[in-house]
Amino acid sequence: DALLSSLTPTETFYVRGHGAVPEFDPSAWRLRVGGLVERPLSLSLETLQSAFAERMVIATLQCAGNRRAGLISVRDIPGEAPWGPGATGTATWTGVALADVLALAGARDGAAHVGFEGADISPEAKPAQLYGGSVPLDKARRREVLLAWAMNGRPLPPVHGAPVRVVVPGYIGARSVKWLTRIEVRSEAWPGYFQDVVYRLLTPEQTVGPGVGMPLGLVALNSDVLAPMDGAEVAAGPVEVRGYAFAGGDRHVARVDVSTDDGRSWTQAELLDDLGRWAWRHWRAVLELPPGEHRIAVRAWDSSAATQPEDEAALWNPKGYVNNARPRIS
Ligand code: MTE
Repeated sequence: DALLSSLTPTETFYVRGHGAVPEFDPSAWRLRVGGLVERPLSLSLETLQSAFAERMVIATLQCAGNRRAGLISVRDIPGEAPWGPGATGTATWTGVALADVLALAGARDGAAHVGFEGADISPEAKPAQLYGGSVPLDKARRREVLLAWAMNGRPLPPVHGAPVRVVVPGYIGARSVKWLTRIEVRSEAWPGYFQDVVYRLLTPEQTVGPGVGMPLGLVALNSDVLAPMDGAEVAAGPVEVRGYAFAGGDRHVARVDVSTDDGRSWTQAELLDDLGRWAWRHWRAVLELPPGEHRIAVRAWDSSAATQPEDEAALWNPKGYVNNARPRIS
């Protein structure tokens, strides 16, 4: 139900962390900016909040493992969370543009990626290391990428990365590094576990290892049904079906279709609140359903005229990422 409101309440926003939540004394917190820069920086929270222009962005975060349960139903994926539609949410994020901080530090020749390091050590990572990740410099310089200290107008709660996290709209949630303490301008992508080993798309034949598979970055077009629930019994007659669609990257949701005859014909859904280019789009369709069992399938389209793959079978991968198959309910 929490996903049915266009902005996700903070208390119900999904939480994904690979280790324990680190604790900070906000007055002692510093953000170090180094690597391929002309002027290394060490910024206190107060300096970050006063020296740069404040910005607010409405952005959807979506974990690469969102909807993994659908892949697990094709073939088991041991050790990975069986996420349904809920490893995503949309919030307002307030902070400063990473671009402004990078401009002050000044990128040197050879700079091509911007790495982020958090303060948490994950027991999953081998060898033990702080959580980190990077995005290409071109993306890091875009105004929508924030160093954020507030979510839905309130200070970031500890589980969501207080005192400061990165928010990279349009990219998988894994790049929106929480509990940020260090930014490193680099010539290469982040070499750490959470970018070089996991959050990569493997073929079914590959096994997880450094550099194996394709690194994930931009979010793929996706959608899901939020109401009615799969398997629900509802009164015959007009039935309202609702859900979300998210285009990811720079694309936006252009259309959502709903089918009650296994995809032979489609009815266009109504797109609801437009929260801007970095947010999901809720949709609704009212279907006239006679008594009996019905299967409902959905497909979203994005502004590049791409649509969702037909089913999960062809999308199965060893870590269970990027399930963007057309959702179906009965
Ligand atoms: N940042 C740190 N420092 N440690 C983490 O484990 N998890 C990432 C990302 N940032 C993570 C992190 C993943 S996989 C996701 S999907 C998002 O945070 C989830 O953000 P949320 O918990 O605020 O929803």
